[in-house]
Amino acid sequence: MLGPTLLRASRSPRMRNAVQSYRLTRKVVTRFVAGETTDDAVAAASALHRSGRATTIDVLGEDVTDLASARQTRDAYVKLLYRLHQASAAAPSEVSLKLTAVGLQLPGNGEDVALQHAREICTAADAVGCRVTLDMEDHNTVDSTLAIGAELRRTFPFAGNVLQANLRRTGDDLAALASSGARIRLVKGAYREPRELAFQRKNEVDEAYRQGITTLMGSRCYPMIATHDPVMLNEARACAELAGRGPTDWEVQMLYGIGQQTQDSILASGGRVRVYLPFGTDWYGYFMRRLAERPANVAFFLRALAKGQASPRDALPTRAPSRSDSPGPVAIGSQLYR
Ligand code: FDA
Repeated sequence: MLGPTLLRASRSPRMRNAVQSYRLTRKVVTRFVAGETTDDAVAAASALHRSGRATTIDVLGEDVTDLASARQTRDAYVKLLYRLHQASAAAPSEVSLKLTAVGLQLPGNGEDVALQHAREICTAADAVGCRVTLDMEDHNTVDSTLAIGAELRRTFPFAGNVLQANLRRTGDDLAALASSGARIRLVKGAYREPRELAFQRKNEVDEAYRQGITTLMGSRCYPMIATHDPVMLNEARACAELAGRGPTDWEVQMLYGIGQQTQDSILASGGRVRVYLPFGTDWYGYFMRRLAERPANVAFFLRALAKGQASPRDALPTRAPSRSDSPGPVAIGSQLYR
């Protein structure tokens, strides 16, 4: 029951204020967030690139309700892209964009505003040889996000979409995109959704994810398999082989601070790994979703708060991976990815 409670809390402005203003929380957050500034993000991305990983960088923020904030987010992405270019770090990067951070929910013409901002970000990305993927948010945003993704691809074929296996509609969405050749990230789904629209039980979501892998690997799309689940990763590898895809015809994606050892195994076997790298000050929603995904994170959070520590460097990938990086008590025994 902890997961749904945390997901409810992730939308609460009161909780947001309380948690964000607590100094010690900010330190704990660094396990999942690369830092607060563009420089922090570029440094963390460069370190990941040196280790053979690609990155997808997210300027933290979502659900903006005024035009000025939406423009600020757009500007933050354009600045990020310019700085990546300056640091010769643009090519192994892409950026991940939440459309509600660039105006999707503004009353009246939110969809137009978000499309225009996304277009400007794609133009800047194109200029420096970087790509863009539209994150998927809760079910209310799915139609708009898919429509904006399709519209962007008319000019920027590199614009990718995300599909969430927990949503019952995703099989149809995948089928509709199968011949598009788009870059598609498949995730299990991080939002609390109503029963009539989404699978609630883990085994149902996992089964839908498996089906999604099969469809995606057999499609004309570029599959981005975003999960830390070793069972799904092995499924993806087997499906890719069956579909005649080589190791560079698809990629695995994981969140910053999670699963470094598994990433090392994939890299060692010649596969592609991209790390989702969030940065910025508006980390509350993102952080709460990470707690909700894994109750053990709540214990980690409380322990670190009690000790008043959790060094900002804990999650940086410049050090050798340690056992504590492991995704946790997953039965991986003889699986390929450890
Ligand atoms: P699952 O939840 O079954 O976890 C498998 C194992 O991974 C767990 O047993 C644990 O060991 C480890 N693990 C998972 N989450 C962890 C955590 N938070 N901390 C530590 N260990 C953890 N969602 C969405 O709705 N829209 C989106 O756009 C995206 N984008 C996105 C990009 C990328 C690159 C990734 C990896 C994920 C997303 N997600 C997302 C989040 C996704 O929907 C999902 O909530 C998480 O990936 C967790 O699910 P798993 O697939 O890892 O499986």
